[in-house]
Amino acid sequence: MNKITNTTKRNTLFKVTLFCLSFLFLQINSYSQDGKKLFKANCAACHSVGSNKVVGPGLQGISEKYDREWLGKWIKNSGDLIASGDGDAKAIFEEYNKVIMPPQPVDDSQIDAILEYISNPSDGEAGPVADVAGASNVVVEEDNSTMVYIFAAAILLLVILVFTLNRTGLFLREAVAKNEGQEYTGPTTLWQSFRELMRKNQGIVAAVIIVLFFGGLLDLMDGAFKIGVHQGYKPEQPIKFSHKIHAGDDKIDCNYCHSSARHSKTSGIPSLNVCMNCHKAIDGSSGKTFMYDGKQYSMTEEIQKIYDYLDYDKETQTYGDNPTPVKWVKVHNLPDHVFFSHEQHVTVGEQKCQTCHGPVEEMEVVDQHAPLTMKWCVECHKETAVSTEGNGYYEEMHKRMTPEFKDKVMGDGVLTVKENGGWECAKCHY
Ligand code: HEC
Ligand code: HEC
Ligand code: HEC
Ligand code: HEC
Ligand code: HEC
Ligand code: HEC
Repeated sequence: MNKITNTTKRNTLFKVTLFCLSFLFLQINSYSQDGKKLFKANCAACHSVGSNKVVGPGLQGISEKYDREWLGKWIKNSGDLIASGDGDAKAIFEEYNKVIMPPQPVDDSQIDAILEYISNPSDGEAGPVADVAGASNVVVEEDNSTMVYIFAAAILLLVILVFTLNRTGLFLREAVAKNEGQEYTGPTTLWQSFRELMRKNQGIVAAVIIVLFFGGLLDLMDGAFKIGVHQGYKPEQPIKFSHKIHAGDDKIDCNYCHSSARHSKTSGIPSLNVCMNCHKAIDGSSGKTFMYDGKQYSMTEEIQKIYDYLDYDKETQTYGDNPTPVKWVKVHNLPDHVFFSHEQHVTVGEQKCQTCHGPVEEMEVVDQHAPLTMKWCVECHKETAVSTEGNGYYEEMHKRMTPEFKDKVMGDGVLTVKENGGWECAKCHY
C-alpha cells in the first residue's frame, strides 16, 4: 500500500521533470531556430526582407542569387570572403562603397532558419526603409530577454532534479528501515524533506542566495518582467553624441538624421556617413570641451571616434579599408509582440516627436521619456482626435458612414483614435 503511494509520487515527480525538460528544450529550440527572431535580432538593423535597401541591400530572393555555401561564408565573415578574392564578394564590396558587413554570430542551422524566413516572411513585412545615403556601419544593440526564460527554466529543472534525487534517497532509507523491522522517523512529505535539505546544507543554501543576489540574476529577472517599462533608461553610448548641441544649439532638424520616421515603421539611427557630411569639415580642432551627462569631454577626442570607426584619416582625407561598426545601444525597446509604426504617428497622425520623446533638443543624452506601457498608448488613443482635415481616406470614410454611426462616434464632433479602432487588440499586437 505504502509502496504504491511512493511509486505514484515518484512517477509524478518524474513526469514534472520530463515536462520541464521538454519545456527547456522547446525554449532553446525556438530561441535558436526562429528565423524571424534571428533575423530581427541580427539582420533587421541593416536589411529588409523585401527589395528595398536599408543599410545593406534588400535580401529578397537571396537564396536564388547565391548558393547556400557562399551565403554561409558571407554571413559568418564577409571580410574573409572578400579577402579570399571571391568575385561576387568583391563586386558587392565595391558596390557598397567598401563598407564591410560585420561578421554575424550565427551558426549554420541559424543561417538556415534566417534564409527560410527571408524566403517566406510573414505577411506585410517589407522591413524598414531608410534613405540614408551610401552604406553604413550602424549596429543597434538590443538585449534579448529570451535568455532569461531559458535561464529560469534551467534553474527550475535543477531544483526539481535535486528534489527527485533527495526523495529517492528517502524512499530507499524508508524501505531499508522497514526491511529491518525498525520504524522510520525521517521526513515523509516533500515540505519536510525540503526543510531537512535546507538544514543539512546551510552552507550551500547561503552560497546560492549570495550568488543569486550578487550574480545579477535579479537584474536579469528585472529585465524579463519590465517588458518595456523602463522610463528614464539612459544606456552608455559609444560616442558621446549630444542632441542638445546638434538638435538644440545647431538646430539640425530631427528628420535630417532620423529620416525614415516619416515614411516607415522605424526611425532608425543615422549612419556615420551622414555625420561625415559635416564632420569632414568640423573635425574638432577648435579643441573646445562640452558637457555630456554631467561630465566634460573633449570635442577633438569624441569626433575622432567617428574617424576611427570609419577608418578615416583626417590628415590625408582618405578612407582605409578597416571600418568597424559603431554599436549604439537602443534606448527604446517595445516588446516583440507589439506593433508600432512611426509613419502612422508622425505622418498620418501628425504627432510631434517631442510628444512621445520629450524635449530631445534640450537633452545631452536621450533617455526613454515615456513609459511605453500599453496604458500609455491607449490613453493617448482615447484622448487624441485623428486629423481628418484634407485627408482623402477619412473623407471617403465619412461618406460611407450611416447617419446613426456618425451620430454615435462623432456626436461630440471629434473622431478619436479609439473610436477609429485604435483600441483593437490586433492593431497593436502581432
Ligand atoms: C551592420 C549592418 C549589417 C548587418 C547587421 C547585416 N548586414 Fe548583411 N550586409 C550589410 C552591408 C553594408 C552589405 C553590402 C555589402 C558590403 O559592403 O559588405 C550586406 C550584404 C549582405 C548580403 C549580400 C547581398 C547581395 O545582394 O549581394 C547578404 C546575403 C547579407 N548581407 C546577409 C545578412 C544576414 C543574413 C544578416 C544577419 C545574420 C546580415 N546580413 C546582417 C550590412 C549588414
Ligand atoms: C545629427 C544627427 C541627429 C539629429 C539632428 C537628431 N538625432 Fe536623434 N539620434 C542620433 C544618434 C546618432 C542617435 C543614437 C545615439 C543616442 O542614442 O544618443 C540618436 C538617438 C535618438 C533617440 C533614441 C533612439 C533609441 O535608441 O531608442 C531618439 C528618441 C532620438 N534620437 C530623437 C531625436 C529627435 C526627436 C530629434 C530632433 C529634436 C533628433 N533625434 C535629432 C542622431 C541625431
Ligand atoms: C549638420 C551638421 C552636423 C551633422 C550632420 C553632425 N554633426 Fe556633430 N557637430 C556639428 C557641430 C556644428 C558641432 C559643434 C562643433 C563645435 O562647436 O566646435 C558638432 C559636434 C559634435 C561632437 C562633439 C560634441 C557632441 O555633441 O558630442 C560629436 C561627438 C559629434 N558632433 C558627433 C556627431 C555624430 C556621431 C554625428 C552623426 C550621427 C554628427 N555629429 C552629425 C555638426 C554636425
Ligand atoms: C501621443 C499620442 C499617441 C501615443 C502615445 C500613441 N499613439 Fe498610436 N496613434 C495616435 C494617433 C493620433 C493615431 C491616428 C493616426 C491616424 O490618423 O490614423 C494613432 C494610430 C495608431 C495605430 C493605427 C490605428 C488604426 O486604427 O489603424 C496603431 C496600431 C497605434 N497607433 C499603435 C500605438 C502603440 C503601440 C502605441 C504605444 C507604444 C501608441 N500607438 C501610442 C496617437 C498616439
Ligand atoms: C506616438 C509616439 C511617438 C512619436 C510621435 C515618435 N516616436 Fe519615436 N519611438 C516611439 C516608440 C514607442 C519607439 C520604440 C519603438 C520600438 O521599440 O519598436 C520609438 C523609437 C524611436 C527611435 C529608436 C529607433 C526606432 O525606430 O526604434 C528613434 C530614433 C525615434 N523614435 C525617433 C523619433 C523621431 C525623430 C520622431 C519624430 C519625427 C519620433 N520618434 C516620433 C514613439 C514615438
Ligand atoms: C494602442 C496599442 C495597444 C492596444 C490597442 C492593445 N495593446 Fe496590449 N500592449 C501594448 C503595449 C505597448 C504593450 C507592452 C507594454 C507593456 O507590457 O505594458 C502591451 C502589452 C500587452 C500584454 C502583455 C502584458 C505584459 O505585461 O506582459 C498583453 C497580454 C496585452 N497587451 C493584451 C492586449 C489585449 C487583449 C488587447 C485588446 C483588448 C490589447 N492588448 C490592446 C499596446 C496595445
